[in-house]
Order: sequence, then C-alpha cells, then structure tokens
Amino acid sequence: MAQKLVVVAGATGTQGGAAIDALLAHGGYIVRGLTRNTSSAAAKALTDRGVEMVQASPMDKQSLIEAFKGAYAVFGVAVSFTKDDEAQMGRNLVDACVADHVPLFVWSSLPSAEKVSRGKYHVRAMDEKAEVDEYIKTVGQPTVILWPGVFTENLLNHMDKCQLQPVSEDGKKWEIRYPVVPAHVAQPTTYVTKDSGAVLAAIIDHWENEKWRERLTKEPILQCSYVISGEDMCRTIEKVTGKEVTWAPYDNLPPPVKALYSLAAEFQYDVSVPTPLLLELGVKFHTFEDYVRDKVAPHIEEVLSKVKAV
Ligand SMILES: NC(=O)c1ccc[n+]([C@@H]2O[C@H](COP(=O)([O-])OP(=O)(O)OC[C@H]3O[C@@H](n4cnc5c(N)ncnc54)[C@H](OP(=O)(O)O)[C@@H]3O)[C@@H](O)[C@H]2O)c1
Repeated sequence: MAQKLVVVAGATGTQGGAAIDALLAHGGYIVRGLTRNTSSAAAKALTDRGVEMVQASPMDKQSLIEAFKGAYAVFGVAVSFTKDDEAQMGRNLVDACVADHVPLFVWSSLPSAEKVSRGKYHVRAMDEKAEVDEYIKTVGQPTVILWPGVFTENLLNHMDKCQLQPVSEDGKKWEIRYPVVPAHVAQPTTYVTKDSGAVLAAIIDHWENEKWRERLTKEPILQCSYVISGEDMCRTIEKVTGKEVTWAPYDNLPPPVKALYSLAAEFQYDVSVPTPLLLELGVKFHTFEDYVRDKVAPHIEEVLSKVKAV
C-alpha cells in the first residue's frame, strides 16, 4: 500500500520541527514541510533529511492549497506576535484542507483568553487561535485540536532569550528570569521537542478507526507532558546539576506578552496531565527532569566552559 503523505506547516519551527522528527523516526509516512523560503539553512537541513520542502505561507491560502494536494493529514500552527492575524493564518490552513479534501487536520491551538479569564484578559495569541476552533466547526473540516501548554523549551530560548542565567562569577548560582508568574504557580507544560511529535504520530496512526476519530474530535485535547511550578523547576535543576537556582519573575514586558503571562499567573485550568486519552493512545511522555538532563545540564556546562576559556 502506498505511504500516506503528512504535510507539516511551520516545519522549520519548534512544533513543526518536532512533528517532522517524530514522523521521520516513525518511518511510515511521506513527510512534506512548508516554509516561506526553501533556500534557508533550516529548510535545506530538512531537505537533506528526506523531507520534501515546499514554499508556502500561512498568509497565502493559494500556496497552502497547492502544498496540501494529496495529503492524508496536515499539521497546522499559526505564528504569534507578528503583524499578521493568527485567525487568518488558521482559517487559511482550514480552507486549504477543505479545498483539498484532507481527511485529517491537526491544529495546534489554545483556549480563548477572554473565556478563561472571564473577560479580564485579551491575548491575541490565544483568542485568535480560539476563533479558528470555532471556524472549524462551521466548515466541518475533520480536525483534532491540540492545546499545548507552556513550552519547556522556553527555558533556554524564549523569544530569542535564555531564561536561565548565571548570577555568580563562580557559576554556582543561577536564576530563571520568568515573565510575571510567581514561583508557586504550577503551569501545564509540554516538552515539545520530545512529546508533541509523538502525539501527532499517534493521532495519525489511529485516524482510520472510527471510534478513535469520535473520541479525538470531541473536544480540544490538552497535549501537555506535566504540570510544574517555578519552584519545582528550580529544585529539579538543583538536583540534577548541583547548582543553586532561584526563580526571578519580572514584568517589564510588551503589553501583549505581559497579558499572556498575567493570565497564566491568575487562572489555572483544572486538568489531569498527561491527558488520559493520549496515554491510552500509547504516547509516552517525558518529564521536566528528562529535559534538564537532555538540555539544561549540557547548556550550563557549555556556558561555564566558555567563561573559563576567556
Ligand atoms: N512558546 C510557548 O510557550 C507556546 C505555548 C503554547 C503555544 N505557543 C504557540 O506556538 C506557536 C508558534 O509555534 P512554534 O514555536 O512552533 O513556531 P516557531 O518556532 O516560531 O516557528 C514557526 C515557523 O513558521 C514559519 N512562519 C510562517 N509565517 C511566519 C511569520 N509570519 N513569522 C514568523 N515565522 C513564520 C517560520 O518558518 P519559515 O521562516 O521557514 O517560513 C517559522 O520557522 C504560536 O502560535 C504560539 O502562540 C507557544
């Protein structure tokens, strides 16, 4: 039987990259990635790994219609904090799926900030995605909606900044400079590069089964790996690396980013993480401690070795 084609939007980004890693490791699907620039180093690196890289932009519906031709499944993300409207990006992805009769759209969304905060906060990165969720219902595109929580990966790269910084010359003391959220507040968090691709692959693998299709499309699915507070992140890094780590919230932020984190500080979802449905699907989730061993401990070593070399 011919292999099915899976198209990944945002292929050169965090979530799209994780989707591609998991699909290549799975080996059962043909993988096509979307990029605005097929000549970029990131796009070429994916071509070298066997991904068919195609030029398309979430703001250009016709390019998506061309790119989704023949797809069995499409993974879609929108990009926040740009001049572009995320709801428009999302609607374009949905319309292109409808135009190409794509059997499965997996949409990385978020709940409406307005609903979660009962009108207190408006956060475009959430509200515009939630608009797409509503739009999907009106056009009938078969879709699994995923809600990733905070990305674990933000710790070492959040909007091009590293949250974890050394604060003593001997490299023994570090702090996590985190937007707004106090140390005791626990947030649902996804180890995206390890877990989100596995979730996507498991959904696609089960899509032929009608019972699974019903269960997966009933309501948005929280895709998080674990729930963790800043305090517990610090203690885990201390345990693994032997460094002293403190949580240092700050609020000198552009208003849209501040609203997002103020909401996270004040309103928590009452949820079971990992979502039982995803465990039933066979996804094996990772822990924050895994991330510290995989990425944080090597990062600390690298920073300290550079300091020593100077
Ligand atoms: N960070 C978090 O904690 C968090 C938590 C939950 C949800 N989210 C959501 O995750 C989404 C972003 O996903 P991600 O982190 O995987 O994305 P990302 O790493 O920023 O990558 C997105 C990719 O999309 C492409 N792109 C298309 N149009 C773009 C545009 N106008 N501006 C910039 N890039 C564009 C870029 O690839 P090319 O240049 O190759 O085209 C880029 O590599 C956002 O909607 C955000 O709200 C983030």
